[in-house]
Amino acid sequence: MVLKNIFYFIIMWNILAFLLFMCVSVNGDSKELFEGDLCDAGAGQQAFCLHIQECMGAVAAAKNGTPYTICTYRGKDPIVCCLDALLKFTPIAVERSDYQDQDGCIVSTKRTGLQIGQKALEKCLKYQQNTCPCKTGASGISFEDIIAHGENAELNEFSNMALLGYGDNITTAQWSCGGSVISERYILTAGHCISGREIGDVKFIALGILARTDLKKDVVYSVERIIRHPEYKPPVKYHDIALLKTDRDISFSLAIKPACLEVDNIQREGHEATAIGWGTLGDGDDTANTLQKTKLYQFPHQECSDRYRPTRLLRNGINQTIQMCYGHKTRPTDTCQGDSGGPLLISNKFRCLHSIVGVTSFGSACGHTGIPGVYIRLVPYLPWIESVVWP
Ligand SMILES: *[C@@H]1O[C@H](CO)[C@@H](O)[C@H](O)[C@H]1NC(C)=O
Ligand SMILES: *[C@@H]1O[C@H](CO)[C@@H](O)[C@H](O)[C@H]1NC(C)=O
Repeated sequence: MVLKNIFYFIIMWNILAFLLFMCVSVNGDSKELFEGDLCDAGAGQQAFCLHIQECMGAVAAAKNGTPYTICTYRGKDPIVCCLDALLKFTPIAVERSDYQDQDGCIVSTKRTGLQIGQKALEKCLKYQQNTCPCKTGASGISFEDIIAHGENAELNEFSNMALLGYGDNITTAQWSCGGSVISERYILTAGHCISGREIGDVKFIALGILARTDLKKDVVYSVERIIRHPEYKPPVKYHDIALLKTDRDISFSLAIKPACLEVDNIQREGHEATAIGWGTLGDGDDTANTLQKTKLYQFPHQECSDRYRPTRLLRNGINQTIQMCYGHKTRPTDTCQGDSGGPLLISNKFRCLHSIVGVTSFGSACGHTGIPGVYIRLVPYLPWIESVVWP
């Protein structure tokens, strides 16, 4: 039975791929486009290149014999210019969700205004129900004791945290960026974490570990696909965000759980969040063995802009629609080299899952009192993330 279904699927797949091949509409631009690139879907519509399996519109078009633009091929599979996943940036909105609580569990939400991230929110409620069911009274993890200057995280405290490895061989890999589990197959990280000049592409994802010395093969997933944000143009620092697809489903446990994507756009000076990472403990120091956590506070936009003036790689300075500064005004605490790609979290919304508000992007120096780091604001990227992760 199973075999028959697989066989049927392969045949259907080949027919679809063939139909699609027959109706390739030639994109006037001769430059080859890759997965994740922005593409022109015709009639001035911008879209981006996705594997056909992740683009419902292209599958439907192939069935109807309607032309669809191809960006490139991965093996025999077409990478199509997918119109399902339009790039939308949300205007700055206020925090607006109203959560209904029941026995300490969020059961539903009433939302007003632009409903960005509705899918992400529904998934979050589902993951919450699956990982710590409300009815059984199973105890979640207490998030209360997160202390200001970087200190060791507890076992299973940040079960969404991923450590990213580079190099061809797992035994010799370098582990240099962070990321977050956000679904059964996807890791959220920074755009600049997808590859390095000397270390090559990101290849491995270690999950469920507290210390670097816990690295064992059984908790390591391979990167099946890298999807950088189509507007991320390194070394320019804007849109520094990417998704990694794992080679197989991640099995959730006490040590490995997804994080929710925060759907409210928090624009509040002094807003408190927690940054985590295995990065260096200060400029020029060694990287941390045990995962570090630190409480940080949102800086006013003006102070953030004053600290990070326009440069060649940051042409318009800090863009507060998509970037934000968090730091600490009285303690030398910050994210440092090697913390990139890790999440900025809030922990008091859902019962046993953290929510991601930002992604660690860059900073001018680390661990200096009063100097904030720059984080990617998550909300404007929710439509893009949803279209890739939960198509
Ligand atoms: C990885 O590197 C180790 C040590 O250099 C070597 O023994 C092993 O065979 C390598 N494995 C692969 C798959 O290349
Ligand atoms: C900020 O970024 C958004 C999204 O890319 C863009 O639409 C807007 O023009 C940018 N603002 C500035 C001042 O660059």
